[in-house]
Amino acid sequence: MQLRNVTADDVDAYIRMRCDPVMMADLGGPLPRELQPDKARRDAVEAAADICWIKMIIPDPGTPAVVAGSVTIWSHDANEGPVSEIGWMVLPQFQGRGLGKLAARTLLEQARDEDRWGVVHAFPATGNAASNGICRSLGFRLIGEQNVTFADRVLRSNHWVIDPRTDLKPA
Ligand SMILES: CC(C)(COP(=O)(O)OP(=O)(O)OC[C@H]1O[C@@H](n2cnc3c(N)ncnc32)[C@H](O)[C@@H]1OP(=O)(O)O)[C@@H](O)C(=O)NCCC(=O)NCCS
Repeated sequence: MQLRNVTADDVDAYIRMRCDPVMMADLGGPLPRELQPDKARRDAVEAAADICWIKMIIPDPGTPAVVAGSVTIWSHDANEGPVSEIGWMVLPQFQGRGLGKLAARTLLEQARDEDRWGVVHAFPATGNAASNGICRSLGFRLIGEQNVTFADRVLRSNHWVIDPRTDLKPA
């Protein structure tokens, strides 16, 4: 598996991830298809500028055109100041093979090695077994439940935190 920065050419993967009702079931439902080319372009600019880490998951480096999903760390302002957050998506045909967990681990190892992002938060929907499984098995601590706004929708989520410098469980 490899991670690489998103580019504007990843719009097809964006549509398959973000406009699919099943993929988006725990994220408030599918997003409009017509917005995805601009979203991929903006994300590519932010990734290239190293403002966010927005990585596409390439399961087999021998076939780099095949994208399995994405993993992202970004910073946003909350009431108490800036918060680093991680999120992940794996397309249905690649799910259940450990790719989501490996991609999240790889990005958190990079955060640890570069001493970037500080404490990292994750807010998977309370009923999302696989996402909560990723958090639990990588060494995140469960803080509690809270409502989270994603793409203008309010979702009931678990609040997990990890300090990659001290908490990341060995593979
Ligand atoms: C959530 C998602 C990223 C998981 O990716 P994945 O590659 O299928 O997950 P993995 O195979 O790495 O499994 C991660 C952990 O969850 C467990 N798991 C996987 N699928 C599961 C399921 N359906 N039910 C219960 N546990 C599950 C695995 O056993 C593993 O835990 P372990 O290490 O203790 O064995 C993927 O299902 C997805 O993108 N779903 C749709 C979008 C989404 O929900 N994104 C996250 C929003 S918070």
